Amino acid sequence: MREQVILTDVGPRDGLQNQRKILSLNERVELILSLGDAGVRQIEIGSFVSPKAVPAMAGTDLLVNELEKRTSFKTPIVALVPNLKGYQLARSAGIRHVVMVIYGSDSMARKNVAMSRAEAEAATGDIIAEARNDGIQVTATIAVAFECPYDGITAPETIENIVDKFIALGADYVVLADTIGAANPLQVRRLTRTLAGEHDSDRIGCHFHDTRAMGLANVYAALESGIRRFDSSIAGLGGCPFAPGSSGNVATDDVVMMCEQMGFDTGIDLKKMMAASNLAATLTNSNAAGRAKPWLERHLIAKAS
Ligand code: COA
Ligand code: ZN
Repeated sequence: MREQVILTDVGPRDGLQNQRKILSLNERVELILSLGDAGVRQIEIGSFVSPKAVPAMAGTDLLVNELEKRTSFKTPIVALVPNLKGYQLARSAGIRHVVMVIYGSDSMARKNVAMSRAEAEAATGDIIAEARNDGIQVTATIAVAFECPYDGITAPETIENIVDKFIALGADYVVLADTIGAANPLQVRRLTRTLAGEHDSDRIGCHFHDTRAMGLANVYAALESGIRRFDSSIAGLGGCPFAPGSSGNVATDDVVMMCEQMGFDTGIDLKKMMAASNLAATLTNSNAAGRAKPWLERHLIAKAS
């Protein structure tokens, strides 16, 4: 049996929150269904945040309703929540797995949620306690885990301490996010090796942006450390509106191609994935695409004929 890699496509959240064009509810549903159809193992469908702060994410509760009506859609979903209000809204909407953001730096916490790093950690800790009572899973994602656009390089020890703390608090998963795509593979290998040595590596994931074209190399570095959970975004859409210089996530298309070529099982049908990727570009009215798109399309056509 091939070893599994668990990809969470964050395009419907990280991708769409940063697009010039705001998608309609139906368009968001269409994109999510296409990812489910391709076999993506988990989808981050949106966030429960202030619609004034991130207009593209308004109506995520309605989105959940719509998805529930599609009985053939069975993909596990997660949604990002920034605070208790977001958690309560997500829970009311029927979300069973939330993504909470904590921070590798103080400035990023202040820019993103107007809290200090310690306040954001305390708020997340309280929500984890509540979620455990509610039987809701929590992924704690550490933003700017490698470098912050305001505070510079994040010390690995800071991240090791945060991971220790949140695993102990009962987060189901902790994800290291390279929010501005600044990490290099050596940094990633060192930090993920340490963490995989100290914790169950199945509870640790990575979230890379491809700003400096090192996204795929960073996925490889983490794979080498035994990490098997990754966030990626269809067609490489993505970016944080509150982190200057942040651009798209590493493209799901490319991560699937690399992992499958290396012998891992992503569960994803590449042909359907390319259909989802093209749909993402059409819906966002952009030329978003994974880096390997021309090869993948040629290869898939050659295979079909
Ligand atoms: N969902 C919906 N609305 C929310 C909310 C949530 N999770 N949290 C707060 N609000 C609303 C409040 O009700 C209030 O609305 P009002 O102006 O109509 O009264 C307004 O947002 C401000 O609330 P306040 O408690 O003062 O929050 P804030 O100004 O400190 O805002 C955040 C902090 C986090 C709620 C807001 O900035 C936000 O949602 N940011 C988005 C973060 C994000 O998505 N980043 C990218 C992904 S990492
Ligand atoms: Zn991101």
